Amino acid sequence: MGLPKSVKIFEVGPRDGLQNEPAPVDTESKVALIEMLADAGVQAIESGSFVSPKWVPQMAGSEAVFGTLNRQPGVTYSALTPNMRGLERAISAKVSEVAVFIAASEAFSQKNTNCSIDEGLARAAELTQVARAEGLAVRGYISVVAGCPYQGEVKPSALAPLAKALLDMGCYEVSLGDSTGVATPGQINNIIDSVATAIPIEKIAIHLHNTYGQALANMYAALQMGVAVVDSSVAGLGGCPYAPGATGNVATEDVIYMLNGLGIRHGIDLGKLVQAGEFITQKLGRRNDSGAARALLAKGAVG
Ligand code: HMG
Ligand code: MG
Repeated sequence: MGLPKSVKIFEVGPRDGLQNEPAPVDTESKVALIEMLADAGVQAIESGSFVSPKWVPQMAGSEAVFGTLNRQPGVTYSALTPNMRGLERAISAKVSEVAVFIAASEAFSQKNTNCSIDEGLARAAELTQVARAEGLAVRGYISVVAGCPYQGEVKPSALAPLAKALLDMGCYEVSLGDSTGVATPGQINNIIDSVATAIPIEKIAIHLHNTYGQALANMYAALQMGVAVVDSSVAGLGGCPYAPGATGNVATEDVIYMLNGLGIRHGIDLGKLVQAGEFITQKLGRRNDSGAARALLAKGAVG
């Protein structure tokens, strides 16, 4: 299978990125970031989560974010929902779609959602049913697909039934999360080979963290296998509160730079995207983790 002609970027910076920032980010800055991303042409933006504020205090203000956003037509503003309480909050906040999440290891499932994999699947199924009945599309995540920080190895063969279960319950797509960024390209090949025995390749998205600097190489491996939906985070924001040492997602700017080089369509203005990344990294007082953004800014290619 060759490279896809076009790729959909699923931006997760405002959720996966900001959920892991040590300092709380004010609503105004979150909203400004999301609006800048939409203005850059990003069509799918995970804009918050309705999880327990005791578990992830950084996302406690998601109602305010969704309530303040100036929404652009054609842009999907989604949110993570872990349970019925979260789904009810998301519906009241008028999200465009929701995401349910399960884990590929028992230990991570307990740390992240305080339940077993089977309980997580049952929860996700109930949420998906209710969300679909409300007219919301539902995305499914599987975490720690390439290895668990608590339990170690995760076998690719364990992923296929989980992906199938998510699709069967009504998710429109399954995002495979290398939550700790440990995968290497050969492993990605094995993971996708396994999952693609159970669900169509068009239903597979890849969610790569860059802890070991492998994320772009891993993404290229996935693209070559026909995956055409990729999650990424502007300025490489992020990590995972339940995956110690995990760094951010692959930076959206780096993905766009690579797709431009490959001649793959994506609909995003790289200059505007770099400005969005600079805006949020300056607010956070942290380094911009996109190599492409740093290089473009250094040579004055972005205003
Ligand atoms: P629990 O403690 O088992 O459940 O949490 P609980 O029902 O006993 O709730 C504990 C407290 O939270 C209670 O408050 C609830 O009312 C409250 P208290 O009675 O103590 O005052 N609560 C809520 N409040 C507001 N909204 C809610 C909500 N739910 C409970 N929705 C639960 C179970 C699933 C809720 C918890 O484990 C949770 O929120 N987990 C989410 C953790 C999380 O957000 N992790 C990061 C996202 S996943 C990720 O980053 C991976 C991903 O990026 C993919 C990848 O990288 O691989 C997607
Ligand atoms: Mg993640």
